[in-house]
Amino acid sequence: MAGWAGLAFLVVFSQCENAQGRMEGAALYRTHCANCHLDNGQGLGALIPPLAGSDYLAAHRERLPCIIRYGLKDTIVVNGTQYAEAMAGIETLSDIQIANILNYIHASWGNDLPPYRLDEVQRLLKQCP
Ligand code: HEC
Repeated sequence: MAGWAGLAFLVVFSQCENAQGRMEGAALYRTHCANCHLDNGQGLGALIPPLAGSDYLAAHRERLPCIIRYGLKDTIVVNGTQYAEAMAGIETLSDIQIANILNYIHASWGNDLPPYRLDEVQRLLKQCP
């Protein structure tokens, strides 16, 4: 019996933790990303690529944490459109904040991509070019 109660507690606890991470991700997104990628993740014409429905996200899963921390200055193709403006990185965001932002993006605006675990984000950040 105590075992079940413990299990129930763990499940509820980890769901709270997820909800909190999602709320932090949403708030950080609004502060640091929405001015370019917009609240609805649509991006801006030929200048800013979309995050909503972006095929870049799944194709570059391993690269995304480094893009948030160190930026991206490249010519990339997102959903068939080419983008070449630079995005600055935000080096003040912690590993867990980066994980929360990415998980917010991966579960918003119809996106349905597998979430990152913190240890995965940390491993990827250690390998940034
Ligand atoms: C100053 C405008 C600006 C801000 C702020 C910004 N981005 Fe970007 N972002 C860009 C541009 C421009 C590109 C394309 C870069 C390139 O072509 O090299 C891009 C590319 C991306 C990409 C890869 C392409 C795609 O659309 O899937 C991701 C993911 C991304 N940004 C996420 C974020 C996140 C998360 C934040 C907030 C932490 C953020 N960006 C803040 C302008 C911005």
